Amino acid sequence: MKPLLLTLFSEDLLTEELCNHLNVEVGTCELREFPDGETYLKIDDSINKRDVIIFDSLYKPNEKIVALIFAVETLKELGANSVGLVAPYLSYMRQDKRFKPGEAITSNYFASLISHYFDWMVTIDPHLHRHHSLDEIYSIPTVVVHAASVISEWIMKNIEKPIVIGPDIESEQWVSKVAKEANAPFLVLEKIRRGDRDVEVSNPDVEKYRDHTPVLVDDIISTARTMIETVKHIRNAKMKDPVCIGVHAVFSGDAYEALKASGASKIISCNTIIHPTNEIDLSDVIVKAINELNE
Ligand code: R5P
Repeated sequence: MKPLLLTLFSEDLLTEELCNHLNVEVGTCELREFPDGETYLKIDDSINKRDVIIFDSLYKPNEKIVALIFAVETLKELGANSVGLVAPYLSYMRQDKRFKPGEAITSNYFASLISHYFDWMVTIDPHLHRHHSLDEIYSIPTVVVHAASVISEWIMKNIEKPIVIGPDIESEQWVSKVAKEANAPFLVLEKIRRGDRDVEVSNPDVEKYRDHTPVLVDDIISTARTMIETVKHIRNAKMKDPVCIGVHAVFSGDAYEALKASGASKIISCNTIIHPTNEIDLSDVIVKAINELNE
């Protein structure tokens, strides 16, 4: 029997592509709130002995996690053979250390929670910094899909003479790969974060790249302060107005408007979270990863 593909939060962009290219049957469920705010969930399909794939990006995870847990509990009670999670954006990866006494290391707790309920997980470019691999915190099999090659292709098609720029040392892992595959040079800057919205980025050594088009690449754009500070430095250095590329378009609050106003010539993202900036389609790479896993 084909695996059943379910999504609880249907706004997710990749679902249609997945349905068309995966050897799955698409299931349905009813998810709504009772008048008191509690969750009602009903799985519409016959589940007995089936493998089930839940596809949901974990952007705004607190709004989703209870329903996801209820879904897995229900599926297992109904006899599911396995329940895997495809989460193009994996949340709770950035608080990977106790920076101040008493802080919760939420990346670890979230990983335990997901590992407890799901049998496997596929995700795209999770924010790995102090954790070097998902295996350090997730106890289930995980597959990480990378957006770098697809971003490189986009750069090669759309940007003449690019210089790929990463705002901080964490970004070196993807910036170096993107630059290599796009046959472009790259620079990695230094970032100091003093608070959620207080970020400073070092001056780039840009003299020799004044005739290049700066392409800023980061994994997550959340408050966009990292990108905005980087754009400011690029402009102060009299380089061309930069193109900003984020894998995950989190864009909290007014972040998108603020980044647009900062002087970026173009802002684009991959479709791991639905957003007007989505221009780089990762359907093919995620479909390939899920198919490989199922084989
Ligand atoms: C952290 O190091 C990440 O790679 C991003 O640079 C960061 O998450 C961006 O956050 P924000 O948009 O809030 O500055």
